[in-house]
Amino acid sequence: MRILVLGAAAGGGFPQWNCRCPVCALAWAGDPRVRPRTQSSLALSGDDGRSWVLLNTSPDLRTQILATPALHPAEGARHSPIAEVVLANGDVDHTAGLLSLRERQPFRLHAAQATLDILAANRIFDVLAEGIVARQPLPLDRPVDLAGGLRMTAFPAPGKVPLYMESGMVDPAETVVEDGRVLGFVFEAGGRRAVCLPNCAAVTPAVLARVRGADVLVFDGTTFTDDEMPRLGLSPKTAARMGHLAIDGPRGSLAGLADIRVGRRIYVHINNTNPILIEGGPERRLVEAAGWEVAHDGMEIVL
Ligand code: MLT
Ligand code: MN
Ligand code: ZN
Repeated sequence: MRILVLGAAAGGGFPQWNCRCPVCALAWAGDPRVRPRTQSSLALSGDDGRSWVLLNTSPDLRTQILATPALHPAEGARHSPIAEVVLANGDVDHTAGLLSLRERQPFRLHAAQATLDILAANRIFDVLAEGIVARQPLPLDRPVDLAGGLRMTAFPAPGKVPLYMESGMVDPAETVVEDGRVLGFVFEAGGRRAVCLPNCAAVTPAVLARVRGADVLVFDGTTFTDDEMPRLGLSPKTAARMGHLAIDGPRGSLAGLADIRVGRRIYVHINNTNPILIEGGPERRLVEAAGWEVAHDGMEIVL
């Protein structure tokens, strides 16, 4: 199995167009300790790169495809090695790239029914015409065979409804759901297992059961501390309020996953405020000392 990190940043990318938080400020200044990153997306192949499955389609998808020769059209007048697209949820950073996959190119689109309902309610997504792009509701906890010999099992991930779907005031205690609206994924090929949770709001017993023994874990690294955004005065929302689990702290992913045996552990969906983006910085050294890798655009994982 091959996994390509197309985009390692969270929604907004890094640097974010309107942000001068301490980490974005380094990026705007061209500081070599920080590398820009595009928004959240992975590509997976079970047949050594002949066909690819996209996990999430970010607003940066076109740029990501241009930067990734494995995803270029390779034969005939119209072709794409992208055979399948899978969505973890209905967030902007995971769905807006669908609009860049128009032009009458057939592929299969897999998502939770709740996410397909969001797409169906937004006519703009009809650019992916019925009869060309098959929309397939994903069953929970049942393997689905994808192109190139990849087997995928979707499972409920603790998460939240997309921010733009929240109407009125939301009770912070009620934002996290684990009902299959947000999905995590197990991908299997050639006897290897990758677990991908780009959005995960908590390390629950069900999450631990999926993750245990994986050859690679690709996990939500949105913020370092839960109060990162409010403390910087950027947003009133904590990571938990946005449906994400912070890295640090007693309930963070670093502690929650510390005793779990996995081959490699990699943070993705990294928000531009997250100091782990600064190579050599104390937070980056802390996660690396705990065995975590920090994903960057173009990173390739071969299992
Ligand atoms: C998130 O992951 O919380 C969302 O992508 C935020 C957003 O809508 O940009
Ligand atoms: Mn996001
Ligand atoms: Zn920023």
